[in-house]
Amino acid sequence: METVLSGIRSTGNLHLGNYFGAIKNFIKMQHEHRCYFFIADYHSLTTHPTPDDLHRNVRQVLIEYLAAGIDPEVATLYIQSDVPEVAELYLLLNMNAYKGELERCTSFKEKIRKQPDNVNAGLLTYPVLMAADILIHRAHKVPVGKDQEQHLEMARTFGNRFNRLYNTEYFPQPYAFNFEGELVKIPGLDGSTKMGKSEAEGNAIFLADDPKIIRKKVMRATTDTGPEVPGDPMSQAVENLFNLLRVVSTEDTVNHFMDAFNQANIRYGDLKKQLAEDIVTFTTPLRERILEIGADNDYLKKVACMGAEKARESARKTVQDVRSIIGFKPF
Ligand code: TRP
Repeated sequence: METVLSGIRSTGNLHLGNYFGAIKNFIKMQHEHRCYFFIADYHSLTTHPTPDDLHRNVRQVLIEYLAAGIDPEVATLYIQSDVPEVAELYLLLNMNAYKGELERCTSFKEKIRKQPDNVNAGLLTYPVLMAADILIHRAHKVPVGKDQEQHLEMARTFGNRFNRLYNTEYFPQPYAFNFEGELVKIPGLDGSTKMGKSEAEGNAIFLADDPKIIRKKVMRATTDTGPEVPGDPMSQAVENLFNLLRVVSTEDTVNHFMDAFNQANIRYGDLKKQLAEDIVTFTTPLRERILEIGADNDYLKKVACMGAEKARESARKTVQDVRSIIGFKPF
């Protein structure tokens, strides 16, 4: 059985794009592979969150993953900082990570541009910590988006380098998980092709949004002046709404509005009302689970402890092996 691992950014709430783009696949995968999912809170320190924000964000992400359907009894769901072995492997891998290659990393160059006043060493070695996350469970598959491909390649580099240096085949090479056409890209509400947290206000619909907010966001979504004659082309913004409709509505509903568009008698207000109601229907049980789990601190504590225990068992073994391969010996 293959080991699959994914790190989850510990910032902010989950939106429909996260759900259909990743989490839906995680939920399926957890039954088919040995899965590790963790909340990357060490990584988040590169931006210096306050202690309150740090905890609140980790807690919220944990709640929302559980609400979405990650089963902590099936997958290993843990918080990165609960597994200090990761920090030791990070230290050891840092000895074979070179300044030049880290400086050339695209995400580092981007960070320098975005936070020029806080170019800390954690930012520079971010890919090493990410490699430690992956290698600590000797994972084979990492379900990540395109933006993480370079980091994954660096994880392979660091693993291979370790293997070569110590003449071993200890670390397998981790590759991006291929969803084989199951990847669904969720567009934003502002006419852009991607739903994203950091995009314009109102672009994303969060799983925890209440119905009033969802209706308001959808009714404000970007459209155009509408087709004048049958056969007029569809703008990106309207295509986005149809793509959202395809995800949350029935085929009949999609066909109904598609016909109306093709006959050039569509009323975008009707389309939006229907879309908003179908999104509300979809997110309501999720939002209720979020509220329920969020109110149950004992449960969250139990989940976090169980995850930490399972993750540490595997992590401890790796660090022990790595120490011995490197040549640390007990007297
Ligand atoms: N860098 C990833 C992101 O920004 C998060 C992450 C940290 C991660 N460690 C990881 C992803 C290990 C996969 C594997 O989304």
